[in-house]
Amino acid sequence: MSKLSSQEISDITARYTYGTWRFQKGWKPLHVADAEGCYFIDGSGKRYLDFSAQLMCSNLGHKNPAVIKAIEEQARKLPFISPGFATDVRAELSKLLLEVLPQGLEKFFFTTSGTEANEAAFKIARMYTGKTKIIARYRAYHGSTMGSIAATSDPRRWAMEPLGKMPGVIFAPEVNCYKCPLMHHYPECGVACVEYIEHMIENESDVAAVIVEPVVGTNGVLIPPKEYLPRLRQICDKYGVLLIADEVMSGWGRTGEWFAVDNWGVKPDILTTAKGITTAYVPLGLCATTKKIADYFDDHYFAHGHTYEAHPITLAPAIASIKEMKRLNTNQRAKEMGNYLGEKLHALTAKHPSIGEVRGIGLFWAVELVKNQTTKEPFNTKTDKVSGKPLLVDKVAGEMMKNGVFIQAWISHFVIAPPLIITKEEIDEGVKALDEALGIADGEIDK
Ligand SMILES: Cc1ncc(COP(=O)(O)O)c(C=O)c1O
Repeated sequence: MSKLSSQEISDITARYTYGTWRFQKGWKPLHVADAEGCYFIDGSGKRYLDFSAQLMCSNLGHKNPAVIKAIEEQARKLPFISPGFATDVRAELSKLLLEVLPQGLEKFFFTTSGTEANEAAFKIARMYTGKTKIIARYRAYHGSTMGSIAATSDPRRWAMEPLGKMPGVIFAPEVNCYKCPLMHHYPECGVACVEYIEHMIENESDVAAVIVEPVVGTNGVLIPPKEYLPRLRQICDKYGVLLIADEVMSGWGRTGEWFAVDNWGVKPDILTTAKGITTAYVPLGLCATTKKIADYFDDHYFAHGHTYEAHPITLAPAIASIKEMKRLNTNQRAKEMGNYLGEKLHALTAKHPSIGEVRGIGLFWAVELVKNQTTKEPFNTKTDKVSGKPLLVDKVAGEMMKNGVFIQAWISHFVIAPPLIITKEEIDEGVKALDEALGIADGEIDK
């Protein structure tokens, strides 16, 4: 294999390939040579605890042998056949999905990413309802392609404004009980943020679907109050609007249930997912719909498809991943280890004046930093992010990397979502590194 040094590998990567969502200048990607369990290893042999499971996706950790075996075997057996054919893996995965998905989701369209799963969801919703508008929420990420980026509300959408994105998406206020965009307080608010969606549907007309991350991921692990999703389900039913649950990040045991909606017993009309479905070893996305939606296409042209739809090498590891999640009981593990992680993170709030809030569910946590705990003013803004200004959270994350712990940082918070196989000792290691690095943020609070 490669005889290049780690430095050369990093230099060539940065020179000839794009670094995503960043200014290209100054990009010095770390050469990762290996990974195992909850750790990855750089070219010099240094180990890093993967405290965010890469992009909140390597749910079974690195190099799970059963998932690797499934990829190898499928590559030998049938590496590719076009989506017009039936395959063993397509049938077996479909049966497994019926077991684990929220009840009622019975027909599947396979993609090779989360963003494509959402594109499929939007097209299906529009074809099925004959309506156009999609309601998304501020503080949401649904993917990078023209439809999904239109429904994304973080600064990654801004470069496509106003005409570079799919038309027809409108935004509702996000659910954020720490810093409510409507300046309300739960529970006196009566969950006004969800009621406002009814107001939007009544006033807009032509609404095909509402898309939500049931637990918002990158934009801050925002967990809705218990009334929110059941009420949203009622509102959608009342107006014949489809409810799309984007579980690309929140699915596959991350919140302690197979899917985040299961925490509130809500059944979406369409559920999209990706990432953890193959523990991210192979790119696979899924758009699952109810039978009622599926039946519509019995007599109407299903105007969607990809060459790589239901690609056998993407499906085999999904079967293996689901079996491994069952064998290792990762849903239960996420609850137990999540409680442990949550206690440890909450304990940090007493020590660090830079922590505004710690929140989470299962093994899905955010630590939000503020300059001022009373005003909740963040250290950085969305505008800072896209203007290339160095962000305080990145400084803290950089310090943690020096100490061998990798963590995802986004504008003013961290997303802590380790592999679901993490142990208490590994959690202690990650929290210790965060504790130490937070001194940097404490030194910058408003005095
Ligand atoms: C909630 C959510 N939806 C969609 C996507 C897009 O998935 P992908 O990057 O596989 O296209 C992401 C990616 O982070 C996500 O977190």
